Amino acid sequence: MTTRSTFSKKGETTDVDISSTTIRHYESRDNSDVLRMFTQCHIDLIIPAFRRALKQPSNISLLLVCGTVAYVITQSVMAVMLVMAVLAFVIYYACKMVYIDFIELMLNTEMADIEEHFLRPPGSCFWVAEANGKVIATAGLKKTYEKPQTCKLTRVFVDPHYRRSGLGRKMMQEVLGFIEHNGYKTCVLDTTVLQVAAINLYKKMGFRACGQISFPGNTCVIFLSQVYLLKFERHF
Ligand SMILES: CC(C)(COP(=O)(O)OP(=O)(O)OC[C@H]1O[C@@H](n2cnc3c(N)ncnc32)[C@H](O)[C@@H]1OP(=O)(O)O)[C@@H](O)C(=O)NCCC(=O)NCCS
Repeated sequence: MTTRSTFSKKGETTDVDISSTTIRHYESRDNSDVLRMFTQCHIDLIIPAFRRALKQPSNISLLLVCGTVAYVITQSVMAVMLVMAVLAFVIYYACKMVYIDFIELMLNTEMADIEEHFLRPPGSCFWVAEANGKVIATAGLKKTYEKPQTCKLTRVFVDPHYRRSGLGRKMMQEVLGFIEHNGYKTCVLDTTVLQVAAINLYKKMGFRACGQISFPGNTCVIFLSQVYLLKFERHF
């Protein structure tokens, strides 16, 4: 079954025209666009994650301790700078690995077969927004089996060119309509502290923060990158 809805954002000025955009269920022809968007949205987080990681107290302490040890041993400012540069690169590499590992994990699991994971199971769905034959936004919803009548929202992405045009909100409205239609009592999702736009969007759509969990991956990499998942939920 495929549902379609078109929309325009009335009364607001935006550089981008989304009036010809269609929100519909995922089809196999969307696969390459969806995977490209999924991959790019995560790669875009590497540099912001690195900037944030450099400001975290644990990494500042690590840089200071290593710099001090290097100075005590060598009495050389050059050596201190070299040690700090190497450490900063290690932190950058950890941030990169967090996202590269996550992308690989997802591309080999649920994103490897979107129909199987999001369209076939009852109470699940994957939406795309299309403009001029191109996928410009995605959202996925899965039934969760840990708690009754609970679903998990995931893969909410809008193409950077179409952001701040109301498309994210429209995708969320489509998803929320589906959730209510399917009688779910709770919807959960997670995002990272870096994703400020997403956090604001979720709050605006009635979600509230309800905890923090570790990002999946190597403990050392997570410690250096300081990337954690913020959990959100909304009750219906
Ligand atoms: C989060 C995202 C989907 C929002 O899509 P969007 O189309 O830009 O959002 P909208 O234009 O519908 O804006 C809806 C609300 O989101 C929030 N928001 C959107 N962009 C924002 C930004 N850059 N900074 C702060 N808040 C922002 C605002 O609260 C906004 O409401 P307002 O316009 O009344 O201020 C989009 O920014 C995105 O794809 N980000 C990267 C991927 C991502 O982080 N996805 C979440 C995965 S968990």
